[in-house]
Amino acid sequence: MTTDPRAAAKRAVGERVAAMVEDGMRLGLGTGSTAARAIEALGRRVRAEGLRVAGVPTSFFAERLARAHGIPLTTFDEVDGLDLAFDGADEVDPSLDLIKGRGAAHTREKVVAAQARRFVVLVDETKLVERLGAKMPLPVEVLPMAATPVMRALERMGARPELRMGLRKDGPVVTDQGFWIVDARFEGGIEDPAALDPALLALPGVLDHGLFIARATEVLVGEVGGAVRRIRRPEPG
Ligand code: 5RP
Repeated sequence: MTTDPRAAAKRAVGERVAAMVEDGMRLGLGTGSTAARAIEALGRRVRAEGLRVAGVPTSFFAERLARAHGIPLTTFDEVDGLDLAFDGADEVDPSLDLIKGRGAAHTREKVVAAQARRFVVLVDETKLVERLGAKMPLPVEVLPMAATPVMRALERMGARPELRMGLRKDGPVVTDQGFWIVDARFEGGIEDPAALDPALLALPGVLDHGLFIARATEVLVGEVGGAVRRIRRPEPG
């Protein structure tokens, strides 16, 4: 018996994106509780229909879950590009820009999203915000020896940085790449996400951060009661 009131919405968007998958597709497999529902739904289709797909996982979490559900895995050494990637998000703004990285997987998630022709983001209504950073801190993945200089630089940029600590582990969270996470809180939200993106990447020791600018091609929003609303990015021009 689940206690998450958003469980039905997560299940609904997971099933919807799994239904978009066609035989032979190469897929990006996201991380988090919502992407997990999509991986499970995809696994059911693979078993029931013999759907032939290959997935690139965005984390150890996604890799283990996909294996458990019988989804064949691949890497970018074997495939050139993906037909579709799906993933959750922590915040989505009206331009469909995102904050990701609550699960500390945003660096690989961005690599996978960048390889995909379609990047489908799966959220419930609580993730929709007017301004990125209004509710969630921005995760920044850093080389451990650069954590303090990066935190000082984030303070100069107007953020309140905090090193993310493990829950069932003493000391900092260590990512799948062996890096650390600094969560940067911007009071009142991030004024100009598109400008902050390259400024953060220019800091020595930063591997990547959780801002996803102009990457989502569509967002599936799970509503109360299990309905799904689809928001598409307008075609350029
Ligand atoms: C992991 C992520 C997740 O996709 C994001 O945190 C959403 O997770 P959930 O669906 O559990 O709310 O970015 O790094």
